[in-house]
Amino acid sequence: MTFRPRRSVLYMPGANARALEKARTLDADALILDLEDSVAPASKGEARSLVAAAVKAGGYGRREVAIRINGLDTPWGVEDLKMAADASPHAILVPKVAEAGDIVTASRIHMAMGGAEATRMWAMIETPMAIFNARDIASAHQAARLSCLVLGTNDLLKETRATAAGGRLAILPFLSMTVLAARAHGLDVIDGVYNDFRDEQGFRAECEQGRILGMDGKTLIHPGQIGVCNELFSPAPEEVAWSHRIIKAFKLPENEKKGVITIDGKMVERLHLAMAERVAAIADVIAG
Ligand code: COA
Ligand code: MG
Repeated sequence: MTFRPRRSVLYMPGANARALEKARTLDADALILDLEDSVAPASKGEARSLVAAAVKAGGYGRREVAIRINGLDTPWGVEDLKMAADASPHAILVPKVAEAGDIVTASRIHMAMGGAEATRMWAMIETPMAIFNARDIASAHQAARLSCLVLGTNDLLKETRATAAGGRLAILPFLSMTVLAARAHGLDVIDGVYNDFRDEQGFRAECEQGRILGMDGKTLIHPGQIGVCNELFSPAPEEVAWSHRIIKAFKLPENEKKGVITIDGKMVERLHLAMAERVAAIADVIAG
């Protein structure tokens, strides 16, 4: 199993040189160097140059590095994509993907610009149309070299005029639809950001909710959010211990031919064995 942890995915404004530097020392699994929403129109060119230099200079170690470009229908998107094709990050995050064609087009232009085959596309799911088309978007994963769907919950709230109150009650169906679409095609899915970055309790609760929904991790806006996020999106120690018990139990000679067994009064089937093996493998990767 090749597993890449994407528990903590930290955004930073591409125009913020200090943040681009500091990210080399932070414990995030992935970084999104942003050219879009967090960069003012007057700073787009400067941010593009700073991000290009940072990615080429490297020093990000095991962290997965993604560049978020501006939409290809904006004055900056094509130049951003050209820079990303040249700088060769692990991934390019395309904003406001509305239909499968948007991400396939971005991928093809990237290749035509001489971009590396190994660079993956990530798609922002952040508009009502993207929720309706999540299934189609995810199904284009081969043509688009797509590996990850990223929820843009601030834009979803803006576009739907819903609020985040009541534990994100209004947008829960959108989050779940995106998880389903991703899983139907073997993609990862990362939850949206929590804006109130000094509120650790609220952040914790939202991470836990994301895990319950099946998210692989959460996008973050501040280094102070990384620790809690890594903890909550790692398999809990009890879960790892339970997984090892399942693996051990199915290895016993008396269980070799059994499809279902009982451990501590609970029914455990071979599908749980597959889940346990995944948890154990993830825990190994994270520990390593
Ligand atoms: N990435 C990397 N480093 C960051 C960071 C980020 N997203 N946010 C803050 N830092 C650094 C600061 O540079 C500072 O480092 P230093 O003290 O070693 O110089 C340290 O973390 C503490 O920062 P702090 O003073 O608490 O925050 P701030 O007031 O400077 O910035 C924000 C607050 C919200 C403006 C800033 O965190 C930010 O820009 N976040 C990302 C926004 C974004 O990318 N949005 C787009 C997607 S929603
Ligand atoms: Mg957005």
